[in-house]
Amino acid sequence: MRGVILRETGKPVEVTDELAVRPPGPGEVRVRLRAAGVCHSDLSMCEGRLPARLPLVPGHEGAGVVVELGPGVSGPPVGTHVILSWIPPCGSCALCLGGRPNLCVSVRPPSSTVTVAGEPAHAGLGVGCFAEETVVDARAAIPIPDDVPFDVAAVVGCAVLTGVGAVINTAEVRPGSSVLVIGCGGVGINVIQGARLAAAAPVLAVDQVPEKLEAARAFGATHVATPDELGDAVRELTGGLGFDYAFEVVGRPATIRQAWQATRRGGTTVVVGAGSRDDLVTFNAAELFATERRLTGCLYGSGDVRTDFGRLLRLWRAGRLDLEGLISRRITLDEVGEAFTAMGSGDVIRSLVMF
Ligand code: APR
Ligand code: ZN
Ligand code: ZN
Repeated sequence: MRGVILRETGKPVEVTDELAVRPPGPGEVRVRLRAAGVCHSDLSMCEGRLPARLPLVPGHEGAGVVVELGPGVSGPPVGTHVILSWIPPCGSCALCLGGRPNLCVSVRPPSSTVTVAGEPAHAGLGVGCFAEETVVDARAAIPIPDDVPFDVAAVVGCAVLTGVGAVINTAEVRPGSSVLVIGCGGVGINVIQGARLAAAAPVLAVDQVPEKLEAARAFGATHVATPDELGDAVRELTGGLGFDYAFEVVGRPATIRQAWQATRRGGTTVVVGAGSRDDLVTFNAAELFATERRLTGCLYGSGDVRTDFGRLLRLWRAGRLDLEGLISRRITLDEVGEAFTAMGSGDVIRSLVMF
């Protein structure tokens, strides 16, 4: 089958016809991809900023159709439309039972499910969506209604759950709270529309690319600023006190520090961006103790994919989340490399590979 492969970190991705998936084993299903979004974490893996096993089939924001069940697998049945979850909750570990399935401790990197020219390769984050087919843990294939378009379904699989979930699950933002969002890409735009959903105000969006700020306004930011203007905006909008909530959606030490510094006493900084383990962020002991600010990570929107994908799709159906508007370009597998480059440009929120 056809798919994207990364052979060496830091090198461009290649497209090949020499991929093959092995048959699904016990506990697994085979899924035919129909749409897959290009997320910054894919690029970070290809650049070596996030860990990945090579050769890698990237792509972790996908939707498709179940085409084969492994031995003894009871479902979802062949023909079911699914969103792929890059964290398949086991349902029985202490964290799953404790209501934190995004932190499931049973998630292990699966054995190689895919080969390139007969040699073992690895499906990115266990799902490897930039290929025509993938073999995944059956618990990673989350059923959705048949009438949801696959492109809309795909973006729910990472950007929407991560961004909206950061607001409604991780931070539990209350109406009227002030919110800062640093980074207005595919994920950040969903933090902004999550803040709109939560009736936050004001919502300040920060990005260095002017077109991203226009998109931020369209998705619900009440105010926008470039990084240089952030200091002034904090003074104007919060009287210098800082925001109730500050979301960092870039994944860099400098922006994490900016988010923290713009958080008010007793407020909460949420790190949504996926940073590298080589990046260090510095806090002095006094500021941690004396200002009672909270600092929290956010993995996959602190969500439960088994219920949250459906919840987000219901909000979309009711017109409360704009998912079509996230999709700027529909591309083929051949254009994934260009989509990585386009991510930095102004006119793309999400590029979607259509199969
Ligand atoms: N200050 C403000 N905005 C910045 C800065 C900065 N210093 N550096 C980059 N940005 C903006 C970019 O202009 C872009 O709009 O951050 C945005 C990042 O968006 P995308 O590249 O579309 O990335 P996205 O897929 O949204 O992911 C964002 O979340 O899941 C993680 O790994 C992912 O860390 C990444 C983050
Ligand atoms: Zn992602
Ligand atoms: Zn678990």
